[in-house]
Amino acid sequence: MPQSRKLLVTSALPYANGPIHLGHLVEYIQTDIWVRYQRLRGHSCTYVCADDTHGTPIMLKAEQEGMTPEALIARVGEEHARDFADFGISFDYFGSTHCPENEQLSRDIYERSRAGGHIARRTVEQAFDPVKNLFLPDRFIKGTCPRCHSPDQYGDSCEVCGATYAPSDLENPVSALSGATPVTRSSEHYFFRLGDFTASLKTFTETGALQPEAANKLREWLDAGLTDWDISRDAPYFGFSIPDAPDKFFYVWLDAPIGYIATLWRLLNTQAPRPLSLEAIREAWGHYETHHFIGKDILYFHALFWPAMLEAAGLARPHAIHAHGFLTINGKKMSKSRGTFITARDYLAHLPAEYLRYYLAAKLSSHIEDIDLNFDDFRARVNADLVGKLINIASRSAQLLTRFADGRLGTELPDLALFQEFAAAGDDIGAHYEQREYSHAIKRIMDLADRANRYVDDKKPWEMGRDPRQHAALRGVCTQALNLFRVLMAYLQPVLPAASARVSAWLGGIDLSFESARTPLLGISIEPYQHLMRRVEEKDLAWATTAPEPPAPARTEVLAAQPAAALIDIADFGRVDLRVAAVIDARKVEGADKLLQLSLDLGEGRLRTVFAGIRRSYDPQTLIGRHVVCVANLAPRTMRFGVSEGMVLAAGDGEGIFLLGVDTGAKPGMPVH
Ligand code: 2FM
Ligand code: ZN
Repeated sequence: MPQSRKLLVTSALPYANGPIHLGHLVEYIQTDIWVRYQRLRGHSCTYVCADDTHGTPIMLKAEQEGMTPEALIARVGEEHARDFADFGISFDYFGSTHCPENEQLSRDIYERSRAGGHIARRTVEQAFDPVKNLFLPDRFIKGTCPRCHSPDQYGDSCEVCGATYAPSDLENPVSALSGATPVTRSSEHYFFRLGDFTASLKTFTETGALQPEAANKLREWLDAGLTDWDISRDAPYFGFSIPDAPDKFFYVWLDAPIGYIATLWRLLNTQAPRPLSLEAIREAWGHYETHHFIGKDILYFHALFWPAMLEAAGLARPHAIHAHGFLTINGKKMSKSRGTFITARDYLAHLPAEYLRYYLAAKLSSHIEDIDLNFDDFRARVNADLVGKLINIASRSAQLLTRFADGRLGTELPDLALFQEFAAAGDDIGAHYEQREYSHAIKRIMDLADRANRYVDDKKPWEMGRDPRQHAALRGVCTQALNLFRVLMAYLQPVLPAASARVSAWLGGIDLSFESARTPLLGISIEPYQHLMRRVEEKDLAWATTAPEPPAPARTEVLAAQPAAALIDIADFGRVDLRVAAVIDARKVEGADKLLQLSLDLGEGRLRTVFAGIRRSYDPQTLIGRHVVCVANLAPRTMRFGVSEGMVLAAGDGEGIFLLGVDTGAKPGMPVH
């Protein structure tokens, strides 16, 4: 095993004035997968984050809501913590930048920078709202674009023509807060002299702490020359006051990254007999291998300002900064008007968190590329990979094992070499996680899942079930398949922690670490298979489709066009014995392009073969594990491909075929009345 590392990992701190949305989650999920992987490999990995609580927007939002900023950030902090917990984000501590530790550290870092001669003071002219009595951040000034003359554009850039400019360039500028025309006022500001660190930032750029594309970006910025950074804001402002500067506050971006250290400090305080001193936390910070996960939009802050501030204060620089791209929804930027601004809560109201974790993992790489979430693709991917491939291995073998081999795993594996092949893949998969090439890890795992399913398909344990003399062989095949499944669940644990925990509990609390997956699980009895994951149906996504609902087609004429058959009485109906059936296996039938061959469990101690004309509408893999309704007393019919021992019910009038489903809770064999 490689030497144990002492890692400190962060995700960017979310602003405390709005909900967590799917765009945020790309980053938290990316980070969390990495963190969980490191922990699984036995490394010490501390993951901290906090709400980013300061600044004008938060101050104004609190005012709008008729509350103090403190009350607002407390409420939002709780909401954020809940969202993160429900997405399985495994922070060791989720704090807030509005805490005494952060104030103390921010002042300390500032004072050390000042002592080093890296703080300058200058008077600047700025737009001021004479009604609200405050200096206006660029975003709070609106006016007509100086280039294309579109009205109602922000003070820093035009959303119509893309021009960027200074607020003073706007035509007819107004304050977005009061509608008043801003006046120009001068005020003394404090600057961090970033240029003092040019040489060391150049070195930092070359040390491998950054992705190649980020390093290139930095070289461009460095070549263009670094200008002083304005780190002060005038009162009124919600933030920390600057020492020896009445009515001046630190700009939110000064204290935000310091919040990483402050949050670590708070975490360590919970673990120590007494709170750590400032000196102790400064020292502790230097003992970690620190990794910051961030979005590409805040690279400048993290790769230039932050290392420079740390250096100015005599603190260790981060070991690595990992930037990611943005999330688009159906190829477009998330947008409230298009209905694609999806909050974490909106999503959770309809879909399991782990499906998003899986989908994003399947797309994430180490590059700064945008990721698209397309809900049709999402549904296809989750159903095909997780339900059709992964869970399929377990559900069919476990059900057969329980039914025909009293749920006990065999004492040896019939194909040890195959198991070893799966166990050996762990190194490769682990390397992909380490490199943040999650899409490669997922690809490799799904290839193995295909391999495991092929193994089961070749052995046909459902056929062995029919003949008691083959039940021992069935036990072997199912033992093999369940062992392969177990290895894959261990590999997926960073991505699917909750599903892995369910599998671990189901299999008697087994360990699912990478290392443990090298030893087969033999001779134990397993509980009957419990449903592990459900399919995503089209109806689960109705809320996320942005297009307005099409008007309901006039369907009233359907019954008129196909009038009901001749009347029957209740006794006639009673002669049809309908039962709930579990689909244990489903496969295509060679030479029959409309048929699927189903192996159905009707709770009668054997499986029935039923041929159903549903191939054009259903992928067989996606049927396994479903419950359907079957005519149980239909006389067996000999067909070209074999004997069909029943019929499954489906709706259809030529426009498609729709199997009848059964609500959760029904058991195979239950009569349908
Ligand atoms: O861009 C943002 O959402 C910031 N709140 C990120 C801060 S990250 C760190 F520096 F604190
Ligand atoms: Zn414009």
